[in-house]
Amino acid sequence: MQTDFLVIGSGVAGLTYAIKIAKAYPDKNIIIITKTTADETNTKYAQGGVAGVWDANDSFEKHIEDTLIAGDGLCNEKIVEIVVKEGPERIREIISYGAEFDKDEAGEYSLGREGGHSENRILHHKDVTGREMERALLKEIKKFNNIEFINYCFVVDIITQHHLGYLVTKSTTDITCYGVYVLNINNNQIEKILSPVTVLATGGCGQVYRTTTNPRIATGDGVAMVYRAKGRVENMEFIQFHPTALYEPGVSPSFLITEAVRGDGGILRNKDGEAFMEKYDERRDLAPRDIVARAIDNEMKKTGAEHVYLDCRHMNMENFLQHFPNIHEKCLSIGIDVAKQMIPVSPAAHYSCGGIKTDECARTSIYNLYACGECACTGLHGANRLASNSLLEAMVFGHRAFLDTVEKINHGNHDAFHKEKTDLVPDWNALGTSEPKEMILITQSLKELQQIMSDYVGIVRNDVRLDRAMKRLDLLFTETEALYKSTKVSPQLCELRNLITVGYLIVKSGEFRKESRGLHYNTDHPAKSRIVQNIIL
Ligand code: FAD
Ligand code: SIN
Repeated sequence: MQTDFLVIGSGVAGLTYAIKIAKAYPDKNIIIITKTTADETNTKYAQGGVAGVWDANDSFEKHIEDTLIAGDGLCNEKIVEIVVKEGPERIREIISYGAEFDKDEAGEYSLGREGGHSENRILHHKDVTGREMERALLKEIKKFNNIEFINYCFVVDIITQHHLGYLVTKSTTDITCYGVYVLNINNNQIEKILSPVTVLATGGCGQVYRTTTNPRIATGDGVAMVYRAKGRVENMEFIQFHPTALYEPGVSPSFLITEAVRGDGGILRNKDGEAFMEKYDERRDLAPRDIVARAIDNEMKKTGAEHVYLDCRHMNMENFLQHFPNIHEKCLSIGIDVAKQMIPVSPAAHYSCGGIKTDECARTSIYNLYACGECACTGLHGANRLASNSLLEAMVFGHRAFLDTVEKINHGNHDAFHKEKTDLVPDWNALGTSEPKEMILITQSLKELQQIMSDYVGIVRNDVRLDRAMKRLDLLFTETEALYKSTKVSPQLCELRNLITVGYLIVKSGEFRKESRGLHYNTDHPAKSRIVQNIIL
């Protein structure tokens, strides 16, 4: 199969790119590949909203400063400026596609507040903002008959060629991407899809932990593929734990209680009913997420409780119902009336601040390969992401990848390359595919991996724990590679393999960082030492 533009992923990042390319080149074909259905994405589950400078009291400078403070010295300031300044235009664009954000009685956008923001600047659609954005994007996509979706299709690897120069110069542009190998779940065949331009928009990797807000699809596939292809991956130690996932043992993924609830006045209390955040930070419940998650972790350890509480009983229930109907309904469904009872919450893996290293045009270190959205590390988040900055980042870099593609086509690099390379790839069908016979081995190894990562590489880390995690991951890696070589390819086995790679990258980057910074908190190394650099693997 061959196409003009290949997009892996149908969340906010992939769809933003695809819509723009389809509009600009009506005579060219775009393929979007998804693992399951088109709308099953992290994007669909986003609750709080999308941050953007919208109000006259707010300013780009304030949003930039808040992002830099949260990022704890590791943000790329140029990228922060780009995202903050271009963000409002991208928000206007999705509004023009039909996305509806809540308005107040005066007809102005109602702007929410979340941790780390010095102003109200979160546009939202009740507590289901991502669902609304995904709906609007998928509706807009339907206008273009040059876009084809291939759903239930698992991308196994990117097709690359390493040019001779790579060995000599280790130059970043000496690896070229020609498309992807996919396992088509509809017909159980390995197929090649060739394209002169490939965009990875594969989302996050929360499934590497036992407790996560991320859906099943979030297995870090894009990051693992790029690492296997010897592309650059950066800052993987910075995994963001959301402080307030609903505590519901045995339920996965965890249901999120958006930070916007604290923005509207919700208060965290420990099992004795004490409002503990004032002991940890003067911003109390609205301190940046790393601080709140660590404070909760500490309270849980001190009291031996498995969760803390989010108290909303004092809040105006009419407003609560209007802003958070989904949370209200979910809580009721498990017997919690938020007007009378506190909500049990605990932290859960939520967002990967690191990922495939990209530049200001969303280019990766591999030629003809872009990455945008959560799988990319643009430099915006540094050591800790400011709440609601990721939907914004995904739109800004989906757009920037589009602009760079246009530029490339205008320079005549597109079609020529397309024709030249089609016979370069080896035939992978030799591997064959089927339902994995050894499913119990796969599911058991996945559980072990999630346990290792949660026990040793969670919110609070130390050198011994990281070392233990690495040794255990090594064994899992060896066993899984053996399984991969001896059994038929399946999505479950590929996901396990990818998650082990991502786990390895998180631990390895964590071992390299001999300091505590942002989301990486290592009790053996104090905060704010002189080591301030991105860790690139
Ligand atoms: P996704 O939306 O995750 O899409 C990934 C796509 O890649 C899917 O289509 C999937 O099928 C495809 N894919 C992945 N691997 C493969 C493969 N191997 N083969 C084929 N296809 C593949 N951010 C905010 O800014 N504001 C919020 O309020 C907010 N709330 C959140 C709430 C929750 C519960 C969660 C989980 C996240 C939240 N986030 C929020 C983060 C934000 O939603 C994500 O970072 C963002 O949506 C990621 O978008 P994306 O386009 O990069 O990837
Ligand atoms: C939330 O709604 O609390 C999540 C926001 C985010 O992850 O940016």
